[in-house]
Amino acid sequence: GEDERTERIEAALDELGDDVVILGHNYQRREIVEHADFIGDSYQLSKEAANSDADYVIFGGVTFMAESADIITDDDQSVILPSMEASCPMAGMAEALQVDAAWAEITAETDERIIPITYMNSYADLKAFCAEQGGLVCTSSNAHRAFEYAFEKGDKVLFLPDKHLGENTAHRLGIEDEIVEWDPWDPESKDASKAVDNDVILWDGYCQVHERFRVEHVEQIRADHEDANVIVHPECRREVVEAADKAGSTATICETVENADPGDTWAIGTEIHLTHHLQRWHPEVNVLPLCGEACMDCNAMRQIDPNYLTWVLEELVEGRERNVIEVAPEEKELAQVALDRMLEI
Ligand code: 13P
Ligand code: SF4
Repeated sequence: GEDERTERIEAALDELGDDVVILGHNYQRREIVEHADFIGDSYQLSKEAANSDADYVIFGGVTFMAESADIITDDDQSVILPSMEASCPMAGMAEALQVDAAWAEITAETDERIIPITYMNSYADLKAFCAEQGGLVCTSSNAHRAFEYAFEKGDKVLFLPDKHLGENTAHRLGIEDEIVEWDPWDPESKDASKAVDNDVILWDGYCQVHERFRVEHVEQIRADHEDANVIVHPECRREVVEAADKAGSTATICETVENADPGDTWAIGTEIHLTHHLQRWHPEVNVLPLCGEACMDCNAMRQIDPNYLTWVLEELVEGRERNVIEVAPEEKELAQVALDRMLEI
């Protein structure tokens, strides 16, 4: 049962002391975040990983986040992901080899300089590719600044892998007439010579959780709760962002509820576990899921089962390092360049 498991986790943590830090992404289950030393979005957690000098960073999150933690932590620190199955489908939609092929096709059609920007939600080899081509990484809270950087350094942007964040950012900057999508799986729709007529080329990836929100969900919540304010993540479709009162990164969503007045109603358009955490953490605010419960559950995040957390900790007590995430040294160095460029903007 849960009590017995909690006791085992606590016993292992007592044994390991300062050797271990547990990071919990906001979309993790309650049974994981309850044991976390730090809870936050992917960007906040990578900063916590960088600041920590624990030998073992246990990452409650998905593979790309554990990779980023490995990139920024020291070489003698190990990053451990309790389940190797926790892979974000969106990160898998832009494989470096596939992007490399598209890049060759697109850049052959123009003399203008294209700057690739990859969302944090991508693998280290793609971050390394972006660094090599003069590009950078961004998160949902600084995507607009990454675009501005790219247009200072070059003429066009290739944005990967999340087309919705790319489109929402282009709208925010008033360049929505310059967008084209690039679907790497559809040879018919791909036309590099047409793509380069635009300033913003969007890779056709998406988050299967956030993409499921619809304008009807916004309309329904307003019909059911007339005082409801609606906030959604910018990984949601353009029309959903437009229908909402506010769009913001995971951190912005948390801050919005934190700063709400008692009795205010906020409907949350993001992964359901965060909505539930906000309900527990801020009982004075009326926090509602923007649509039903189960369908907004991220199955990649869900792979981090508390039993696996128990297992990796108990193995560490026995001196065995399980599920260590290690980025290859060459990739690490380049991916770090792409991350550093983000930190500079
Ligand atoms: P952030 O944590 O950067 O907001 O990313 C959202 C997300 O979907 C993470 O999986
Ligand atoms: Fe990936 Fe979306 Fe799940 Fe985040 S919520 S891990 S972007 S699938």
